[in-house]
Amino acid sequence: MAKVAIMGYGTVGSGVYDIIRMNSKRIADNAGEAIELKYILDIRDFDDHPEKFLFTKDVNDIICDSEVSVVAEVMGGLHPAYEFTKSLLEAGKSVVTSNKELVATYGAELIAIAKEKNVNYMFEASVGGGIPVLRPISRCLAANNIIRIAGILNGTTNYILDQMITNNKSFDAALADAQAKGYAERNPAADIEGHDACRKIAILASLASGKQVDYTKISTRGITDITLDDVKCAEKSGHTIKLIGYAEFFTNGKVYAHVEPMVIGADHMLSGINGVMNGVYVTGDAVGDVMFYGAGAGKMPTASAVVADMVDSVIHKLTRKIMGWKKADENFAANSDEVKFRYFVRTDCAEAEVKSVFGNTTGLSGLDQSDTVFITPAMSETEFNAAKDKLGAVKTALKVLG
Ligand code: HSE
Repeated sequence: MAKVAIMGYGTVGSGVYDIIRMNSKRIADNAGEAIELKYILDIRDFDDHPEKFLFTKDVNDIICDSEVSVVAEVMGGLHPAYEFTKSLLEAGKSVVTSNKELVATYGAELIAIAKEKNVNYMFEASVGGGIPVLRPISRCLAANNIIRIAGILNGTTNYILDQMITNNKSFDAALADAQAKGYAERNPAADIEGHDACRKIAILASLASGKQVDYTKISTRGITDITLDDVKCAEKSGHTIKLIGYAEFFTNGKVYAHVEPMVIGADHMLSGINGVMNGVYVTGDAVGDVMFYGAGAGKMPTASAVVADMVDSVIHKLTRKIMGWKKADENFAANSDEVKFRYFVRTDCAEAEVKSVFGNTTGLSGLDQSDTVFITPAMSETEFNAAKDKLGAVKTALKVLG
């Protein structure tokens, strides 16, 4: 019998509880022993809960209980999640989490403590909600040098963009809807300004490169300045706009990453990922392109990944699962000019003027509007910005994926 605890009884924490109760037999079969939930930590009162005796407000009840071997940290935020996780690992307990902010910020340190204590720190739920993606990248693609990762990593923004396109909903109405469905962060600015996706691409890039990628150095732009006109214009020209977390890995060890709304052609696999779904498109030097797809947010999908990590921690209580990265002191962030993209541009300048500035552009037709819309040849950010300034009057400029 493995004794476990849950820290945080919010959307994901209550999902973890529900799955442990709902699927106890299956979980026990997979773990090789029954799992007994001994504590739920939360600062709030749950007097009406049928198992209110499980609740505690004191983390020391869990840290000091030598019977507890695995803890799910699903409280979110950096503090006190960091301090609690560190104390639990130091006390010899495995910790599993959905907390991307914590993993992106303190991942290398917490992974090192887990290694030293011969326990596990697992975080499958921190990227892509219920989609198995971190383990597959780490284990199943272990024979590859990862060349590129492009992901729709935030369910809330994908849901908003989809609602704008398919239901003509305003940005605010679509956001309210995503909040009501439990997809959005406590502060939805983290979703719509791209910070949530930034932490997730930092985790993916750290895993793929083996070195902690500092998320504060990742250029991040959300979807707040994307208009209905932009979305419709892209759609009419056979494209779609998605918030993309992007990372490219160079053979010299450098890593380039950004988060921004990008234009995707209808033939790209990520273009069909709608609603709250996430997709992570990974290119390896041996495997080629693979895509991971599924529910990227929400109570049960995220809890599904958390409970799976609990099961894996129970199975591996005497051995460590090797998955993670190390701290890196050297600066290995590639400059934005080391990568080139094509750009989708909307302007009211005439086509002749556009061609004189950007050269061999691809014009987009069928837009039934006065704007000139085109795609530039591949160029660096500096080259693009210089050309954009020369043209002036650019309404929209977005990098193109693929
Ligand atoms: N707010 C996040 C999202 C939740 O919308 O994707 C899952 O990390």
